[in-house]
Amino acid sequence: MLIKKPHAWQMAENEVTSEAHYKNRRQFLRAMGIAATGSVAVTGFPGMALGLTAKAKAVRDLDYKTTEYDPGEDQTSFQAVTSYNNFYEFGTAKSDPADYAHEMTTDPWSITVEGHCGNGGQFALEDVIDFSSLEERIYRHRCVEAWSMVIPWLGVPLASVLQKFGPTAEAKYVQFETYANRDEMWGLSRPVLNWPYVEGLRMDEAMHPLAFMSVGLYGKELLNQNGAPLRLVVPWKYGFKGIKSIIAIRFVSDMPRTSWNESNAREYGFYSNVNPSVQHPRWSQSTERRIGEFFRRDTLMFNGYEEEVASLYRGMDLSRYF
Ligand code: MTE
Repeated sequence: MLIKKPHAWQMAENEVTSEAHYKNRRQFLRAMGIAATGSVAVTGFPGMALGLTAKAKAVRDLDYKTTEYDPGEDQTSFQAVTSYNNFYEFGTAKSDPADYAHEMTTDPWSITVEGHCGNGGQFALEDVIDFSSLEERIYRHRCVEAWSMVIPWLGVPLASVLQKFGPTAEAKYVQFETYANRDEMWGLSRPVLNWPYVEGLRMDEAMHPLAFMSVGLYGKELLNQNGAPLRLVVPWKYGFKGIKSIIAIRFVSDMPRTSWNESNAREYGFYSNVNPSVQHPRWSQSTERRIGEFFRRDTLMFNGYEEEVASLYRGMDLSRYF
């Protein structure tokens, strides 16, 4: 995601990266026999990581059932899905999450649930996600930066997770928060966003059958760069709503703070539904670059999920509630 302040992407890599990480990375690149000239695109994506998945943790295969959720478009390669990422807690370059996210501890993992609900508290991952009922959902993934992918996620409907906690009638919205540990996430030392990363949905959006809590992709557990051990997937919204590595869920009565909206409300709305006719102030949203394809594609209303979700926004002026 492009940001206005500070201009992290304009800095030399050694300014953005802590010294220890910078040296480690240089050593790694050297060991790979690659000149230390910044990121080199081996598969065509600017800044794509260089075999850095070698540093990724070992991930388990997951059992799951297939579903009818499939746009019938070519799936983006596992390599691209796991090495071209946004996870600013590990740096703002697309290759940073694959380089550094393995430093995050994901086991054990606990999730705090609070606010307007009957069964709040602190839960282990296994108490929140029923790993015996995982399903695969192949969804389009559209970043606000105008690139897109098609990803076979594994997980459970978000509604099935939220219902466990017994949200009450006062719960009009739900807020999610990402893990934040400066010892493991060097990007937190940069004031790119007001950390920790927070996101939110209106309750009816969160309970919509398409909203998904993912714990895996391509048949395996999530790699850290994709938001292990659990991240949100809301396929009709821009990717930044898909908050990663969730440690807290809060049921609230008022629209919650969300990180990108708070950083620049003119550019990043709370709703952030994919909409080719509402332009970002600094670029067009009417087309997108599908990673792995040569020609740009037209962006689809609600990312192609209009039939399913348009009724959530009936009567709302979508250029105002963007
Ligand atoms: N979640 C956290 N905690 N931090 C982030 O920087 N980036 C968002 C979203 N979730 C982000 C995040 C953005 S801008 C996008 S497009 C998607 O994650 C990218 O998900 P992916 O890397 O799995 O493709």
